[in-house]
Amino acid sequence: MSAPVNTSARPERGQELELTIDDLAFGGNGVARLEGYVLFVQGAIPGDKVRAVVTKRKRHYGEARTVELISGGPDRIAPIADHPGAPWQILTHAKQLEIKQAQVEDALTRIGKLSGFEMQEIVPAVEPWRYRNKLEYSFGADPEGELVCGFHAPGSWETIVGLDDCLLASEAGNRVREQVLAWAREQGLSPFDRRTHTGLLRNLVVREGRRTGELQARLVVADGDEAERIDTDSLHRAVEADAIMITRTDALGETTAGGDTEIVIGPPKLTEELCGLTFGISPTAFFQTNTEMAERLYGVAADVADLQGWERVYDLFCGIGTVGLSLAQRAGEIWGIEIVEEAVADAIENARRNDVSNAKFFAGDVRLALRDLVERASRPDVVVVDPPRAGLSQKVVRRIIEANPKRVVYISCNPTTLAPNAAQLVEAGYVLRRVRPVDMFPQTPHIECVALLERG
Ligand SMILES: C[S@@+](CC[C@H](N)C(=O)[O-])C[C@H]1O[C@@H](n2cnc3c(N)ncnc32)[C@H](O)[C@@H]1O
Repeated sequence: MSAPVNTSARPERGQELELTIDDLAFGGNGVARLEGYVLFVQGAIPGDKVRAVVTKRKRHYGEARTVELISGGPDRIAPIADHPGAPWQILTHAKQLEIKQAQVEDALTRIGKLSGFEMQEIVPAVEPWRYRNKLEYSFGADPEGELVCGFHAPGSWETIVGLDDCLLASEAGNRVREQVLAWAREQGLSPFDRRTHTGLLRNLVVREGRRTGELQARLVVADGDEAERIDTDSLHRAVEADAIMITRTDALGETTAGGDTEIVIGPPKLTEELCGLTFGISPTAFFQTNTEMAERLYGVAADVADLQGWERVYDLFCGIGTVGLSLAQRAGEIWGIEIVEEAVADAIENARRNDVSNAKFFAGDVRLALRDLVERASRPDVVVVDPPRAGLSQKVVRRIIEANPKRVVYISCNPTTLAPNAAQLVEAGYVLRRVRPVDMFPQTPHIECVALLERG
C-alpha cells in the first residue's frame, strides 16, 4: 500500500519552492519530498538545495525544474559544457557508475522482486566525452532572430538553443554542424517554426563511422517550395562530409525518420567497423550510438550466450544485424527479426559483405512474427533480445516462453522495463543468473545492461 499523500502539501503548477534533494530517480531527476508528496526535480542531485519551479502537478507526484542552485550536494562537480544532452556531468564519472550499478540492481529487486542473481560490475565507458557517432540537432532562431542549430531548451518543444561545441560529438562531427549552419545562414534559409509549421530547416543528423572516419550529414527540411530552391551545389562545396543528404518531410511532430531522402553526394549508407566486421547502415536504421562501447556490450552478450558452435540463435530486434552477425561464427545458425525494412535489407547485405552464410534476417513485428519463425526455423537454443526502451510486451515474453530456449540473453536500455520482463520469465521457470551494466552513455542517466536468464 502506498503512503498517504498530504494533499495540502501539493504545490501549484508554476509555484517556486526551495527544495532539498534526497534521492535520484530512474531517468536522472532528483527527488524531493514535501510531507510525503514527491517532486521529481530536473537539474538536481542528492544533497542539493535548490529553488525550483513546479512544471507538473499530479495527484501522487509532481515535477519541477531547478532555476537556482542554492547549495550543492557533496557529489556535485562543476559542469564543463552547457549541454542539454549531458545532464549528469554535474556528477563525477565514478559516481555516475556507482549510481547506474545501484539503479540496475534496485530495478530488478524492487520492481521485478528478483533475487539470487549475480550483479556484475559495470563496464566503464572508454571515452567520457565525444563518444557519440550520431547527433540529431534541431534548427531554430535565437532571441535576435538569428538561425541556430543545437538542441531543444530543457522542457521546451519549440525553443532551440544553439551551441558552440557539442562535447558528445567528435571534432570532425562538430565541424560538419558548424559548416552546415554557416552555409544555411549565408543562404538566408529559415528555421522551421514548430508552432506555425512554416519555414524550412528542421533537423541536422550527423553520423560518423568512428572506425572508418566516414561522415554523413543529413538535412531534414519541411517539404514545399522553399525545399525545391535549396542550392545543393553550394551545400556540397560548403560541407566537408563523405555523404550529404536532404530529407523532405511534412511530419507534424519532431522526427528525423520517414520523408523522402535525396542524396546530394556520397554513398547511400554509412560504413562502420565493429567486432571485426564491416557494416553498412541506412540513414533510418538503428545503430548503437557509442561504437567503442557497442563492441563491449556485444562482448558481454557473447560471453553470457556461451555458444558452442551448434546452437540455433534468434536475434530479436536485430536492427542491421550487428548482434547476430557478431555471434554467427560461434553459432550453428542465426535468425533475426526487425521491423524497419531498410535495416533488414542492411542486415542481409551485411551478412553477405562479411561472408556470413549461417544468418538469415526477416522483416516483421516480433510480436506477430515470432510464432512463424519457430515454425519455419524450429525452436531456438538461445534467444537474444534487444528491444527499445519500452521493453517487451507480456505477449512477446509469452511467445519467447513458448519457444522454450535454453537461454535468453536480454540486452536492455532500460532496467525498469527489463525488471518486469525478467520477472515474467522467472515466473515461467527461468532463472535470472547474472546481470552486467555497460556504461554506454556517460554524462547522461541512461543505462544499458545485459541479463542472462536460463531455463531452470
Ligand atoms: C535497441 S535497437 C537494437 C538493434 C540492434 N540489436 C543493435 O544492437 O543495433 C531496437 C531495434 O528494434 C526494432 N524494433 C522496434 N520495435 C520492433 C518490433 N515490434 N518488432 C521488431 N523490431 C522492432 C527497432 O527498429 C530497432 O532496430
